[in-house]
Amino acid sequence: RGRRLSHCAAAPARPSFGIAFDIDGVILRGRSPIGGSPQAIRRLYSDDGTLKIPFLFLTNGGGVPEHKRALELSELLGVNISPAQVVHGHSPYRDLVKRFEDDLIVAVGKGEPASVMAEYGFRKVLSIDEYSSLFKEIDPLAPFKKWKVGQPNYKDFMSEKMHPPYDVYQEKVKGVFVVSDPVDWGRDLQVLCDILSTGGLPGNGKGDQPPLYFSADDLEYQAAFPSERLGMGAFRIALESVFNQVNDVPLKYTSYGKPNPFVFKNAANILEKIVMGIYPNSQPRNEVQDHQFSTIYMIGDNPKVDINGVLKAGPPWSSVLTRTGVFRGNDNDPKFPADLVVDTVDDAISCILEKEC
Ligand code: G3P
Ligand code: MG
Repeated sequence: RGRRLSHCAAAPARPSFGIAFDIDGVILRGRSPIGGSPQAIRRLYSDDGTLKIPFLFLTNGGGVPEHKRALELSELLGVNISPAQVVHGHSPYRDLVKRFEDDLIVAVGKGEPASVMAEYGFRKVLSIDEYSSLFKEIDPLAPFKKWKVGQPNYKDFMSEKMHPPYDVYQEKVKGVFVVSDPVDWGRDLQVLCDILSTGGLPGNGKGDQPPLYFSADDLEYQAAFPSERLGMGAFRIALESVFNQVNDVPLKYTSYGKPNPFVFKNAANILEKIVMGIYPNSQPRNEVQDHQFSTIYMIGDNPKVDINGVLKAGPPWSSVLTRTGVFRGNDNDPKFPADLVVDTVDDAISCILEKEC
């Protein structure tokens, strides 16, 4: 076991290391903390609850605005997490606002995809639930579904004589953003094929494909069920396969999220801001250059995503692989070997603190 954080607490200078935590399969499974995550995270705070070691959550998941996720994580882990410490797969979408300023866009996925995009500054957003509900009969299987899709739905618009918020029958969809894991795959495949094949106006013949973005490309991830669940990458494969069968021009798309090295660069910049916020007047340890970490640890469970991302990003990133999620091997992953393999996130923190403090 490593020495406890109290040894770091004595250090007057700011730490020369930072930590990025994956969420699903490292910190949580479903909504349950795993691997001693609450105690592991608490070791990064001083006794009075102030943050001591710079860290953030770097997840390919999402579906709610970052401030909401920060609150949820604070409650689950028993510490005060700030919105700046939450980086979702979709967080970089905020950099695309200018490109789609007054354009109608459709946001796809579980949770509150349209609120996420609206909070980033996109002005004309409809969730795929809302958008689909405006097109009568667009989903021929809807009458067979025993669940009710998000509000407002088509009947609400018609019976209450409400008007759809935008003229979706005239105005083309200019961009599609898959924010989080899609819920109703069947309908979403159908409606996305409609939007993307017709130039953004379902039911109107063929047209140029509007841009399509995925916030991550995880084939599988670890949720509450014992074996992995199909993720956004699986949905992307399904959409691409179907789209390419019904169109002459192949689907074009951009995927964000780990293992893209740009995600790691962005996380390093955020960690630098966090450490400067905690230690505004102190000097970095170990003679490292100002604003730079000598090591940033990524603690992840998915070799193909988390560890591969660190391999692509290079120094100062260093990878720690846990056995609480997608990876369950005894040794290391043969294809994407981690710098360190441990059982749990709490073990990872012990090793890091022992080395650094
Ligand atoms: O849907 C979430 C999943 O794709 C991965 O989340 O936290 O393991 O990066 P995470
Ligand atoms: Mg994970």
